[in-house]
Amino acid sequence: MKGHIRLDRESGTLVLLDQRMLPVSEEYFYCRDTRDLIYAIQEMVVRGAPAVGVAAAFGCVLAARETAADFSALREGADDLDALLDALASARPTAVNLSGAVARMRKVRQDNDPESFSELIALWEAESERIYREDEAVNRRIGAFGAELLAPGDVVLTHCNAGALATAGFGTALGVIYTAREQGKDIRVIADETRPLLQGARLTAYELHRNGVPVVLACDNACALLMRKGMVQKVVTGADRIAANGDTANKIGTYGAALLAEAHGIPFYVASPLSSVDMQTPTGDDIPIEERPESEITYFGSRRISPEGVGAYNFAFDVTPARLISGIITEKGVLRAPYEQSLAGAFTDSRAPI
Ligand code: MRU
Repeated sequence: MKGHIRLDRESGTLVLLDQRMLPVSEEYFYCRDTRDLIYAIQEMVVRGAPAVGVAAAFGCVLAARETAADFSALREGADDLDALLDALASARPTAVNLSGAVARMRKVRQDNDPESFSELIALWEAESERIYREDEAVNRRIGAFGAELLAPGDVVLTHCNAGALATAGFGTALGVIYTAREQGKDIRVIADETRPLLQGARLTAYELHRNGVPVVLACDNACALLMRKGMVQKVVTGADRIAANGDTANKIGTYGAALLAEAHGIPFYVASPLSSVDMQTPTGDDIPIEERPESEITYFGSRRISPEGVGAYNFAFDVTPARLISGIITEKGVLRAPYEQSLAGAFTDSRAPI
């Protein structure tokens, strides 16, 4: 899944594998400017917290190029550039990687104080490449720490897609599975289909199958039965935002899977880079939850599946309380409760960053 997010310097476009089309066809979506990228994020051409963060970092380069077309001096165009960055950072509200990546790019500008657009663009091209490379390296470390938690023969249930497609490459939850299998452990996966946009059926099943990992689909509401039957040994999911107390927002349905795991005595792990941890958000109640159009629920593809005039709740994410999480697998190791301390410690950990 290499190259699903790529800044093409020659054409000045950001090239995204269009995840809406998977697994039926592999098509690319070309972002010429910030508006195209905001559309791509909102329509989920690119999705998954780290992938959206990486795309937004490249998007800052697009924003700088676009502003440079209207202003000759960076000083004159500063307000327009800031407005584009604000719009980009708030394209989707839940995953903190999006606003985090834009904030990191802004800090590079502030620290280096470039005088011209060309200087700024060079700085941001380098920083966005760094964010891209770091993300994949971080995922490999998450994979190594997480693989230790899996035993040969385990069946792992996962929800949504926290794989290569959701990151710069390799994946978080799926990275754990890939690594365990690289170590020779016979791990199989149950992918929740993940209503309503079917990231599990379309994307997780696609990338696991492509990589030779045995995977079986289940509808989201089969979770309790599968656990009751002893068909699931571990649950591993990704995260969109982890609050300072460990409460974790992830795709709608994750909270239910965590409650069911607790009821059946099954460990529930979150695999996440520290870039998805938001120490400024005290608890899960403070995490903004995206609400998406009703039509994603009232229609199946182009076919209406509910009566005209009946609405639908379409919260895209839910929050799993920290008490249900057996461990948070990060690039600094597996963090355990109490998460206030272990998360804070991970940020002050003196081990060299990736
Ligand atoms: O709405 P999506 O598809 O962007 O939601 C994605 C998820 O919930 C993922 O599990 C999460 O972003 C982690 S990806 C490593």
